[in-house]
Amino acid sequence: MIDLRSDTVTRPTAAMLAAMAGAETGDDVYDEDPTVHALEERVAGLLGHEAGLFTVSGSLANVLGVRSLVAPGQELLCEERAHVVRAELGAHAVWHGVTTRTWSDPRGHVDLDAVRRLMTPDAGPYLVSTAAIAVENTHNFAGGTVQPLETLRELRALAEPVGVRLHLDGARLWNAHVATGVALADYGRLFDTVSVCLSKGLGAPVGSVLVGPAAAIAEARVWRKRLGAGWRQAGVLAAAGLYALDHHIERMADDHAHARLIADAVAEADPSAVDPATVETNVVILDVGDRAAGLVERAAAEGVLTGVVGPGLVRLITHLDVTGDDAKQAAGVLARLVRG
Ligand SMILES: Cc1ncc(COP(=O)(O)O)c(C=O)c1O
Repeated sequence: MIDLRSDTVTRPTAAMLAAMAGAETGDDVYDEDPTVHALEERVAGLLGHEAGLFTVSGSLANVLGVRSLVAPGQELLCEERAHVVRAELGAHAVWHGVTTRTWSDPRGHVDLDAVRRLMTPDAGPYLVSTAAIAVENTHNFAGGTVQPLETLRELRALAEPVGVRLHLDGARLWNAHVATGVALADYGRLFDTVSVCLSKGLGAPVGSVLVGPAAAIAEARVWRKRLGAGWRQAGVLAAAGLYALDHHIERMADDHAHARLIADAVAEADPSAVDPATVETNVVILDVGDRAAGLVERAAAEGVLTGVVGPGLVRLITHLDVTGDDAKQAAGVLARLVRG
C-alpha cells in the first residue's frame, strides 16, 4: 500500500528507533527528563522563543497555546478551515470557553481586510472581545499552502498595537520553511505562541512542541498536567524528535517534489481536477466532484490510499515513507482513474 492519507502515518526508521532506545530519561512531570529539556530548548531556539513544552499532540499544543492568549468568553479569529476550528472537536470551547469567528480564503491565507473587519479588541459589555488570531502555516485543508511572510508581518503590525495576540499552528511549519527558505525564527517571532508537530513531515512517532514566553509555557505545563497529559520518561519520544530535527528537515523537499509529480500527472489526465501550480508543499487536493468517494475506493483497490476532506475533495499527502517510485506509481494510478 502507498499510504497518502496523511503524513502522520510514517513509521520510525531504524536509526530513529536506535536514538530512542539510547535516550537518557527522567520523570518529566518532575521536570527531570534531560532529553525532553534538550528538545524543548532546541525547538524554542529554532523558532526564536524563550521556552518550549513537549506535548503528546498538535491539538494539545494548540489548545494550550490558545488558552494562554484567550480568556473564557473572549474570541479567537481564524480561517474557516483551520485545524483549530475544524478538527479539534471544539476543545478550545469545551475546556477553555473560547469562542471563534472565521474568515474564508480559497488558499487559506490570512485575509487582512477580513481581519480588520472582524477584529474587535475591546467590544465593551455587550459584544465578544477579540483576544487573539490563529494562523495555520502551512494550511492543511487548503492544500498545504504557505502563508506569505509579508502578510504575516502586516498582520502583526495590525494586531500588536491593539493588544490582539497571535497563535501560529505550525504543525507543518517545517514544510513552509523548506519550500520558501524563510528561517523558522522569522516565522516564529511574529507570533506570541507557536505549535509545531514532530509527528508529521518530520516522521517522529509522537509529539509536538508549544513555544512562547517562559511564563506562558510554565502555565501551559500546569494546564497540560491538569488535562491529564503530564508524562513521565517522555525522553524516549523526545529523542525521536531530536533525531528528526537533525535528519528529516531538508529531505522534505523530496516530499514536495513527489506531491508536484502526482499533481502534474493528474492534471495532464484531467486539468479540472487540480492546478499543479497550487501545490506548494506536500499536500495535493483533487477537486473531482461526485467522483470523490469512488476515486478513493478504486485507488485503494489499486494500492493507493487517499482520503476525502470535503465535498468532492480528495486529499493526498506525501511523506518520509513515500519513495520516488511510490510517487510515480501513485501518479499513474490516480491519473488513470481521473481520466475515467
Ligand atoms: C494543521 C494541523 N494542526 C494541528 C494538527 C493536530 O495534530 P495532532 O494530530 O497531533 O493532534 C494537525 C493534524 O493533522 C494539523 O494538520
